[in-house]
Amino acid sequence: MSSALKGPVTRRQFVTSSTAAIFASSLAGAVPLSQMSARDGGGGKSRVIIDTDPGVDDAFALLLAMRSPELKIEAITPVAGNVPLELTLPNALRMVEIASRTDIPVAAGAKGPLVRRLVTATYAHGENGLGGAAFPEPTTKPVSEPAAQVIVQIIRRYPGEVTLITIGPLTNIAAALAADSDLAGKVRGLVMMGGSLSGGNITPAAEFNIYVDPEAARMVFQSGIPITMVGLDVTRKTALTDDHVRQLSAGKSPVSQAAARIASKAIDHNRSQGFLVGPNMHDSLALAAFLDPSILTFENYYVDVEVNGELTAGQTLGYSPNRGDLRRTPEMQAKAESSMIIRGAAPTLAGTKISPVLRDEYVPNTRVALQLDSSRFFNLLIGRLSS
Ligand code: BDR
Ligand code: CA
Repeated sequence: MSSALKGPVTRRQFVTSSTAAIFASSLAGAVPLSQMSARDGGGGKSRVIIDTDPGVDDAFALLLAMRSPELKIEAITPVAGNVPLELTLPNALRMVEIASRTDIPVAAGAKGPLVRRLVTATYAHGENGLGGAAFPEPTTKPVSEPAAQVIVQIIRRYPGEVTLITIGPLTNIAAALAADSDLAGKVRGLVMMGGSLSGGNITPAAEFNIYVDPEAARMVFQSGIPITMVGLDVTRKTALTDDHVRQLSAGKSPVSQAAARIASKAIDHNRSQGFLVGPNMHDSLALAAFLDPSILTFENYYVDVEVNGELTAGQTLGYSPNRGDLRRTPEMQAKAESSMIIRGAAPTLAGTKISPVLRDEYVPNTRVALQLDSSRFFNLLIGRLSS
């Protein structure tokens, strides 16, 4: 799908070139989504799709989601990211088996970013993606349709009801948006682990999930879906400790035991690299932000993604008239909010036709998490996994 696209890709180009590929591919011998037995989505449960690249912290996030009675998980859609799809897919299937939730459809997603080569994070997640913690080969199969198609089907079936929780590169979501130009308007919201307004982790500028597929991320941020961004600004404050491992080990359930094994391996791996703190539970925080937003504080921004920068590709930029220390009177504040323009780079001498104005009006598209109550987060996470 991606190899046919060369150079900067517009949303229109991507829609045209990818839709056929998305819907043409399917997995031999797997059950179609329509034949999966559907649990009742009622009873006040929130319909979610979890898009993921397991991944140590993804594994925790999936287990947390499956231990959360508030959620009706309509599908889990693995994507290539921390490790290739050949591992993220079975890792996701392993998690549904561990949680005894094989009723949840798991649909295979993209094998790589829209227009770039895949960059993985085995340095952080180990070669198997689970920090080296070994679990049996899953016997559960994915559904026959690919992830983008499943995402489109579910959102069309429940317009205005489905929240996308994305904890990996955004390739599957971009592919779904490309396949159906009306889809964004039918999505209730999108809660992402991704991005940062305070520096990156894979480069000085970029957070991993956005860095891997910045073109996909840009399509998502520009889609009009109401976005909640749970980025490094807050997920850097979620380091796992030995005490968490002890609490998980004391739990009797397969979920608690599996989480303890993954956590223990991941902490050991971090120590072997000389880190003085355990790995961050980035992705579980995105889940927690959906389950209990009161553990975080948020501010509104217009967020866009740098896709051209040699040093900054994948950087998330947050525009706000309220940034900085210079406070305004309420009247001038309101005026700034209604009249701020979004500027890009100043025109070069050679490129006089390029306007520095990207948007002539400030319209926030993202609620950015900027502060976290870490102990409440860990009470939720470890409490649910170990109960
Ligand atoms: C994000 O990158 C991945 O390595 C983690 O799973 C998380 O989703 C943190 O930058
Ligand atoms: Ca992840």
